Amino acid sequence: MRQIPHHIAIVMDGNGRWATRRLLPRVAGHRQGVESLSRCVRACAARGVAVLTVFAFSSENWNRPADEVSGLMQLLLKALAREVPKLQREGVQLHFVGERARLSPEIGAGLAEAEAATAHNRRLVLNVCFNYGGRWDIAQAAARVAAQGLPFDDENLSRALALAHVPDPDLLIRTGGEQRISNFLLWQAAYSELYFSDKLWPEFDEDELDAAIAAFNRRERRFGKTSAQVTAADGERQAA
Ligand code: FPP
Repeated sequence: MRQIPHHIAIVMDGNGRWATRRLLPRVAGHRQGVESLSRCVRACAARGVAVLTVFAFSSENWNRPADEVSGLMQLLLKALAREVPKLQREGVQLHFVGERARLSPEIGAGLAEAEAATAHNRRLVLNVCFNYGGRWDIAQAAARVAAQGLPFDDENLSRALALAHVPDPDLLIRTGGEQRISNFLLWQAAYSELYFSDKLWPEFDEDELDAAIAAFNRRERRFGKTSAQVTAADGERQAA
């Protein structure tokens, strides 16, 4: 029987190339990216995935041309207005993960409102990483641990990280053909299985999600142990 990853994380790369190939402005690719995200949320919920975490805007994306940055901000506001009622119907609990201070008051309020409105939903947790960077997250967690006067150990840092409300991702997907982490979940991806797809994000569909889940099922997750230890523990679990 195929095992469904509890938590899937995605670097949604390739929107710009999708648009450029069609002679469209880059922001048209991001707009199509929102459609693809909406489809992906539904597909994950239908398969029993409990947590989906996506990289929508990185700490470094401020360095893009000003019209693309403002296009992404506008798109976020539009997506909130249009998608939140749908997410409500689908039982999705929304979290925005990242530094809020640099976002406009209008966006800050929109994010808080969407989180409050969906807080009671239980079918799928959707974490949208916006103005997020893995290094930012580790640094802000360290600052919080220091402010509490606690030792810098694994447990205290994990508790202070921005994704402390969910377990670490089991499967990390990156679309768009590049094979790097790009400052996404640096701490949390320590034992995630990685899957790189050549599809551009707007083209990512249910078949590609199933291909990633199938690849995940072919992996042996050892968490630092030997293959023999993992096989023995599996046998004991099945016998119990
Ligand atoms: C990377 O593609 C994608 C982004 C920087 C933005 C991701 C955003 C979405 C999928 C839309 C969802 C966003 C909101 C506002 C909820 P790229 O632009 O780097 O593509 P390229 O590598 O082809 O240039």
